[in-house]
Amino acid sequence: MSILFSSLNIRGMEVKNRCWVSPMCQYSSEDGFANNWHLIHLGTRAVGGAGLVMTEAAAVSPEGRISPSDLGIWKDGHIEKLNEITNFLKSQNCVPAIQLAHSGRKGSTKKPWEERDNMVGENDGGWIPVAPSSLAFDNNSATPKELNTDEIAGLVSSFVKASKRAELAGFQCIEIHMAHGYLAHEFLSPISNKRTDEYGNNLKGRMKFPLDLIREIKKVISEKVILLVRISATDYVENGWDIEQSIEFCKELKDLGVDLIDCSSGGSSPLQKLNPEPNYQVPFSAEIKKQVGIKTGAVGLITNSHQAEEILKANLADVIFLGREFLRNPYWPLKAMKDLDNSADIPDQYKRSF
Ligand SMILES: Cc1cc2nc3c(=O)[nH]c(=O)nc-3n(C[C@H](O)[C@H](O)[C@H](O)COP(=O)(O)O)c2cc1C
Repeated sequence: MSILFSSLNIRGMEVKNRCWVSPMCQYSSEDGFANNWHLIHLGTRAVGGAGLVMTEAAAVSPEGRISPSDLGIWKDGHIEKLNEITNFLKSQNCVPAIQLAHSGRKGSTKKPWEERDNMVGENDGGWIPVAPSSLAFDNNSATPKELNTDEIAGLVSSFVKASKRAELAGFQCIEIHMAHGYLAHEFLSPISNKRTDEYGNNLKGRMKFPLDLIREIKKVISEKVILLVRISATDYVENGWDIEQSIEFCKELKDLGVDLIDCSSGGSSPLQKLNPEPNYQVPFSAEIKKQVGIKTGAVGLITNSHQAEEILKANLADVIFLGREFLRNPYWPLKAMKDLDNSADIPDQYKRSF
């Protein structure tokens, strides 16, 4: 049997395979609520055989959204529809996962498919973004308001409350988004964090907010919920965040009880030098797995079943996240199982088609 379709046990939770859906914003919510788009979109990928299906970034506060149409989990009213989704995913023997996020200085933007003068003004449902330092991402972005220490503590509390709601909604896995130039990554990276207080100054200070998040979240979620962190392993910019700092950070995350690092990269600077090609982020997963001794996920231009299997066989990652390939083909795992194992866990309703 292939490794891709063998089960993975994470602290007692059995995930049926290692082929997981990467978080992908749908920009299809009103006031943060999930709706039938999310139910069908995520549900289809569970029917398609993914072992774990992760929601898009769900904002922990209204100002933590990227666009006003983002999914959210900042109020109890959001739980009911999310619960319908987790129930369906579980009925397909799929682990429901949610990514919790705050957009930081990259908030209050339009949907990507809208015209590109980017920012949504305060009169049109937008807001002034917040960040560790008052530095805009680029010339087309708003200048964020620098967070004070009370506001930082308030954001930790927002993540904690969102984590509790996630568990109440039935999610068995929570991933904290610390990548792609959003709030937690903004604290980590010397490019966006110029603070001189306890939340900046040096690596220890820059790691404080992200580590506080994990420490406090671990206190409120039950043992059976698995906790993942998505990082950007490098900024691809000189004197920015890099793999060496990522390794130090992941050692701390491991000590705090994080179960798996989802290894992405980039997003904190328009100056990043990056030419994405198949497997381009796999070396980060391999390095963190080796240096830190923690489970890792590889993501990024992985589209072929044999490609995915080779990564696992070489022990460069424990799981494979697929993003855009799952948008093109929600049934990717069913076909990949046929390719690799000549058998597949096909839903009865679809049996005669594969
Ligand atoms: C439409 C779209 C939305 C995305 N939204 C998120 C998101 O909410 N959170 C996140 O961490 N990454 C997000 N990503 C990044 C993907 O999860 C993934 O890391 C990236 O697309 C690379 O993987 P791929 O080559 O398999 O698509 C998004 C990507 C796409 C294409």
